[in-house]
Amino acid sequence: MRKKVPSILFVCLGNICRSPVAEAVMKKFYPFAARRIGSAGTSAYHVGEGADGRMLQAARAKGYDLSRHRARQVKEADFAKYDLLLAMDYDNFLELKTLARDSRLDVTAEIETFLENGNVPDPYYGGPSGFVRVIEIIERGCRRWGRRLGWDDEERRMRKD
Ligand code: 4NP
Repeated sequence: MRKKVPSILFVCLGNICRSPVAEAVMKKFYPFAARRIGSAGTSAYHVGEGADGRMLQAARAKGYDLSRHRARQVKEADFAKYDLLLAMDYDNFLELKTLARDSRLDVTAEIETFLENGNVPDPYYGGPSGFVRVIEIIERGCRRWGRRLGWDDEERRMRKD
């Protein structure tokens, strides 16, 4: 029997730059898991807004469509709905840990940083090249997670089936 495909929530601060890209990249790399992948922000700064225009443009140039994305904030139910919460940087990792600790739920979801070492840089206050760089960092990170979860093999199998 095949193992259950884990669900993943990518988490950054605003949910308008980094985590929406991670969501789009992961869905594109592993379409069989698309329904189990989401993103959210720890802040409420941009709730309801679309992706940052600069990121929207940079992502489009690399074949990712963020036009339907709407920012939302992490909520308690996410700790029950998702198996794995991946923070795009250490600050948001700590924030998720605090939210989980203070939650009334018995949180079994795993909380980890998206990168093994370091942060996905926050491109918000930088220039346009920062957005392209962030997308490339996220693409590499998503491949690493895909390998770690066995999703590369699963995707190949799905294509053959
Ligand atoms: P994100 O980027 O966390 O990757 O969505 C940011 C978006 C907004 C802000 C900071 C980072 N902000 O300070 O409003």
